[in-house]
Amino acid sequence: MSIHYNNQRKIFTLTTRSTTYQMRISDLGHLIHLYYGRKIEGTMEYLCVPRDCGFSPNPYQLRVERSWSMDLLPQEYSGSNTGDFRLSSLNLITDNGIRGVDLYYVRHEIRTGKYAIPAMPAAFDRDGEAETLSVTLKDPVTGLEAELLYGVYEQQDVITRAVHLTNTGTCTIHLEKVASLCLDIPFGKWDMLHFVGRHTMERQMERIPLMNGIQTVASRRGTSSHQHNPFVILCDKSATEDSGDCYGIMLVYSGNHRTDVEVDQSGSVRVVSGIHDEQFSWKLESGESFDTPEVLLTFTHQGFTPLSQNYHRFLKKNICRSKYTYARRPVLINNWEATYFDFDSDKILQIARQAKELGVEMLVLDDGWFGKRNDDNSGLGDWFVNKSKLPDGLEPLIAQINDMGLKFGLWVEPEMVNEDSELYRTHPDWAMMVPGREPAISRNQLVLDLSREDVVDWLYETLSGLLHRYHIEYIKWDMNRSISDVYSRILPPDQQGEVAHRYVLGLYRLLDRLTTEFPDVLFEGCSGGGGRFDAAMLAYSPQIWCSDNTDAIERLSIQYGTSFGYPIASMGSHVSACPNHQTGRNVPLGTRAVVAMAGTFGYEMDLNKLKDEEKQQVRQQIKQFHEYYDLIQNGDYYRLDCGEENHYFTAWQFVAPDQSEALVSIVVTHPRLNLNSICLRLKGLDPEACYVVDRQEFFGCDVPRDRIPMGDSGKTKQSYSGTVLMYGGYVLPQMFGDYPSVQIYLKKEL
Ligand code: GLA
Repeated sequence: MSIHYNNQRKIFTLTTRSTTYQMRISDLGHLIHLYYGRKIEGTMEYLCVPRDCGFSPNPYQLRVERSWSMDLLPQEYSGSNTGDFRLSSLNLITDNGIRGVDLYYVRHEIRTGKYAIPAMPAAFDRDGEAETLSVTLKDPVTGLEAELLYGVYEQQDVITRAVHLTNTGTCTIHLEKVASLCLDIPFGKWDMLHFVGRHTMERQMERIPLMNGIQTVASRRGTSSHQHNPFVILCDKSATEDSGDCYGIMLVYSGNHRTDVEVDQSGSVRVVSGIHDEQFSWKLESGESFDTPEVLLTFTHQGFTPLSQNYHRFLKKNICRSKYTYARRPVLINNWEATYFDFDSDKILQIARQAKELGVEMLVLDDGWFGKRNDDNSGLGDWFVNKSKLPDGLEPLIAQINDMGLKFGLWVEPEMVNEDSELYRTHPDWAMMVPGREPAISRNQLVLDLSREDVVDWLYETLSGLLHRYHIEYIKWDMNRSISDVYSRILPPDQQGEVAHRYVLGLYRLLDRLTTEFPDVLFEGCSGGGGRFDAAMLAYSPQIWCSDNTDAIERLSIQYGTSFGYPIASMGSHVSACPNHQTGRNVPLGTRAVVAMAGTFGYEMDLNKLKDEEKQQVRQQIKQFHEYYDLIQNGDYYRLDCGEENHYFTAWQFVAPDQSEALVSIVVTHPRLNLNSICLRLKGLDPEACYVVDRQEFFGCDVPRDRIPMGDSGKTKQSYSGTVLMYGGYVLPQMFGDYPSVQIYLKKEL
């Protein structure tokens, strides 16, 4: 049993392989947080030291006993307006004007299996390892019940949390804030890692020391956003990739989110994470319920690498539902950067033919195949074939592509509409806008009101119609603007605060229906690149286009940041043309492939335009990727070094789960003169074993053989012990030129 209740001391203990989580019901009935961290034996009440602090009020029941204050106690789910002046987890107003909430223990239940969350993606229990703790608290005044849900995945060191609220009172309640998680960490000095960015530069890792007051990671864009990913790590000041206490807090949600981290007057830390409360409200009539999205928690005392690996394994095993999660996915070619809107079937077939010849397995037809879509000003919403580009329709095109031996995939952007479209002319009321106000326009498009069932039903009919009619084996699901002018014409005024969340629920309902009905279709998520790269979207699409920035050098830091939380197999990554279309940079073809191989791997260019020797290189890259496929997609991932920090090179490594093979990739971003050689300490190898350097290939630079210190004797393949490679390191020659790289494949000697 990973969940235990000590009835005498009223302590709940959740245990995973290497962590313990503990809480206690106080004498007054509040649920007090005791501990979350490295696995311990024993109980931790002593950490909750009573103390009197000026201006921190005491519960009325205690009168002259001043050492017990909600303002100082670590709590599992903080209330509001009750004398705890730190972050609240829940806030409300009732019809008769009562604000705030004070929650007391009512009952609890421990059960096998994992709780589910209605209408939202949440972790599931793939092989019967999970247990659930449900603790119900109640506010006696308003009658609001909060069922705190804990899912314990013992082997994976993950604890999930969510809250199910029910109005058991007689008054209508308007929820104004409902967090998924409150986590108090009373002791220690912490840094925070968060993943910030913008369109074409997503998830740049930033490490900041926590300061007194509140630091916020949030999005009010209607999506999880390019700007702030719904994922943070708190780590001790000295934490590195391999050491130090780290807490991961990842929200499974794709809409407006907010994670606040507060350092209070006494130095104690409180994290509150969930749906963003700005412009949010939810009307809860007597008897009605509301569910929060889920948060995935993991803790390790061994630094960022095991923390990331916990998330990589967990997201694949317990969040991604697609049958393609572990399966081999096709190497694809996407025509976007090859043609943009300017294509016809001949051009597409030409691209497909060449791609097939070099080993590509699927062609994806991107934006522009439908409606009157000749640029990005019109056509969204009209999901029927653009006859001026494809006069014979999609069937013959798909048939010819399939006849070549390629699969066919299609781009859609279902959540949007252009004013210049048949859909908008027929249903102008389906686009979100505030009555009487001109809506903000972005890429000249408006957002459909997915909070409406009729809109979601229409989208379902339209998209399932496409999938039934055509032989489509992959869908790229795009979403190319932030949501503003949030208003739904069918909700009453006192429910307009629900629209943004209802939109997300509508999206989930749509994706759920489609992915359930078409389990054989591989879905790739996208939002102007990686603007909706979150755990919830991974439930439907096992891969998400990482960024619209396809410059391999820029991709290094984007993929580096993304790897802290998300599996390599989830990162859509392609080789594109040079000069790069976003930055104008030239990067060797080999280096572009090395970077794209730290992801799903594919091409985003017209391969006809390559020289013969480059074509031969592409053929070789695809062959190589197939050989490394399992290692890359299902191996353990290690960040070895980062060019943003060392101003020299970025390096990473994959190791097979049984340590039988490893792949090391290094990209030099800033060649350095008169500096020491690069000496990389490899990770995760078997210290008892020897590894032979089976392949070592340099790209974008000529290194004389006699200058290569390791791995290439010219005659036999060199072999080194795991200890040499991990503790001594792997030494590389100096590499000069524009963005050279090297890939080293090591195999365990039997
Ligand atoms: C978004 C995507 C791109 C491409 C375009 C098409 O920006 O991220 O990959 O599909 O839309 O308009």
